[in-house]
Amino acid sequence: MFARGVAILGGTGQQGRGLAQRFAAAGVAVTIGSRDPGRGREAAAAWGLRQPIRVESNATAAGQSDTVVLAIPFGTADALLDDVRSSLRPGTVIVDVTVPVAFPGGKMTMIDVAEGSASEHIRARLPPEVGLAAAFKTIPARLLGAGDAPLDCDEFVCGDTEESRARAVALVGLLPGLRAVDVGTLARARHIEHLTALAIAINRRHKIHDARFRIVGLT
Ligand SMILES: NC(=O)c1ccc[n+]([C@@H]2O[C@H](COP(=O)([O-])OP(=O)(O)OC[C@H]3O[C@@H](n4cnc5c(N)ncnc54)[C@H](OP(=O)(O)O)[C@@H]3O)[C@@H](O)[C@H]2O)c1
Repeated sequence: MFARGVAILGGTGQQGRGLAQRFAAAGVAVTIGSRDPGRGREAAAAWGLRQPIRVESNATAAGQSDTVVLAIPFGTADALLDDVRSSLRPGTVIVDVTVPVAFPGGKMTMIDVAEGSASEHIRARLPPEVGLAAAFKTIPARLLGAGDAPLDCDEFVCGDTEESRARAVALVGLLPGLRAVDVGTLARARHIEHLTALAIAINRRHKIHDARFRIVGLT
């Protein structure tokens, strides 16, 4: 399913870096997309990777793979999509990791999104021949980036088509210790994004960094 590799736009960041390292460790060819590939290559070189990871411009990375992870701050999504839209091939599935949260003055707030969720906002700005799924929204970056630390949790997946969801479920399945839980249509993304806000609140209240979710009763 990932013969053409996986591109991670924003892969130099906190969430993207952990995903890039773990997909590469699973044997997938990973290309990171960056606004500044030169700076991105320097950053990736400092990670001490066991597997090579390419770094290209966001548009080049987006056009090289048919599975494209969007791991950028939500507020920057419109500009990034304008940059990469014409590079996306028909049949590409975007896996959206973004969560519409902001931290003005250090206080966490959910950004009000007219479409109901970050994923639905992004869906509305993609060509119809490109699919969209949401995943990796509730797994904390600090845990993802912690080398071989066990992830040991569930990851919620929703999407606009069966094909989009299947692609995202397979991507989640590449990471040992993560179980994909298909929660249905893209409209479920708003609930997933609020769960991320809840995990952040739990982290802050209990002074931890790795609050995450496990569904019981699901076999
Ligand atoms: N951090 C977490 O624990 C966590 C957990 C779940 C979900 N998420 C979500 O994952 C997404 C990424 O989070 P993060 O913490 O990894 O973010 P981040 O480190 O602040 O940024 C990720 C990358 O996005 C690119 N970027 C930054 N500003 C940009 C702009 N104006 N235009 C285009 N690209 C820009 C940068 O890459 P270049 O400079 O190389 O272009 C940066 O390295 C967010 O939507 C977040 O809500 C995060």
